[in-house]
Amino acid sequence: MTRPVYANIDSAALQHNLSRVRELAPDARIMAIVKADAYGHGLLSSTRALKTADSIGLLEVEDAIKLRNEGFTQAICLLEGFSEANEIPLIARYQLETVIHSQWQLEILASVKEKLNLSVWLKVDTGMNRLGFSTSEFTNALSSLETMPCIKDVAIMSHLANADTPKNPGTVEQLHLFNELTKSSAVPRSLANSAAILRHPDCHMDWVRPGIMLYGSSPFADASAQGLNLKPVMSLLSRIISIKQCKEGDAVGYGSTWQCPEDMPVAVIACGYGDGYPRHAPTGTPVMVAGQETQLIGRVSMDMITVDLRGLANAAVGSSVELWGENVSVDVVAKRAGTIAYELLCGITARVKRQDVVYG
Ligand SMILES: Cc1ncc(COP(=O)(O)O)c(C=O)c1O
Repeated sequence: MTRPVYANIDSAALQHNLSRVRELAPDARIMAIVKADAYGHGLLSSTRALKTADSIGLLEVEDAIKLRNEGFTQAICLLEGFSEANEIPLIARYQLETVIHSQWQLEILASVKEKLNLSVWLKVDTGMNRLGFSTSEFTNALSSLETMPCIKDVAIMSHLANADTPKNPGTVEQLHLFNELTKSSAVPRSLANSAAILRHPDCHMDWVRPGIMLYGSSPFADASAQGLNLKPVMSLLSRIISIKQCKEGDAVGYGSTWQCPEDMPVAVIACGYGDGYPRHAPTGTPVMVAGQETQLIGRVSMDMITVDLRGLANAAVGSSVELWGENVSVDVVAKRAGTIAYELLCGITARVKRQDVVYG
């Protein structure tokens, strides 16, 4: 028997979440962010489901070429740009867009004398202090790009550091700075990630760049995905592979961290941190077993977890288990484990079988 651990990917939910972006930002074009294998959901199938997006944002040039070869005709943007000069001919041949975030990239482009009709995104750092030209370098970088023979179009982007935190003044400051820097320029602009799409309409501008909301997770600690009308895309599913009748006082799992408070059944589920379930999920993390919610008990192992089967009379070896998905929000599991859904979704490992499904 193969291990019954599956990540079901609901393409109708992806499409629903994309339509939420359109609803929230009707005047903006959408660059759907599919980096990190579409946040762990599978690049090709996810991009197929998102084919009505105006553009696709990812990191690796190889993935971009794969999408072109699969027949995707919309814009495809390399969010960290090229890492070596020898990628530029590929970018031109496959009509990819590239972000330019640093002086060294500008210098490489300046050395290209052919007319390549490249479309580039100039990235400016408005306060995140990660990628992007500083505000003092920005104007020179823009005018230098606009005069290069290899460039056809320039657009401008920046990235928000705090849009997911309510009332954080940083977002308003970044927006203000971005507006100031770009006010005399007529080129397309982009600032909004999921959090800003949902809560900062003044950041929408010409292009929005949704990531996590497409996959049905809330970027906010104070709002559920369901409350934002987002549908979960990935369901991490497994089955009970063994049931133990434990006695009061029996300790369960590594470190014997959990003792049975009474005689009780304990189920062993095939799924552990070797599959991407978070090792730091504590006792009490919700798990859906045979259609009923129960709790994780004891430590998460590499291949298994143990759950409390008290009150679950229908559960038996082979019963279905949802670790996250339709019923148990990945955001809740992430919070219990002290992390964010981004990490859990991206962290699903290769041994988990992905299945495309449409729940409708
Ligand atoms: C440049 C850029 N734009 C947009 C996004 C999407 O962000 P989110 O997943 O928070 O919507 C990311 C992701 O980190 C990003 O790096």
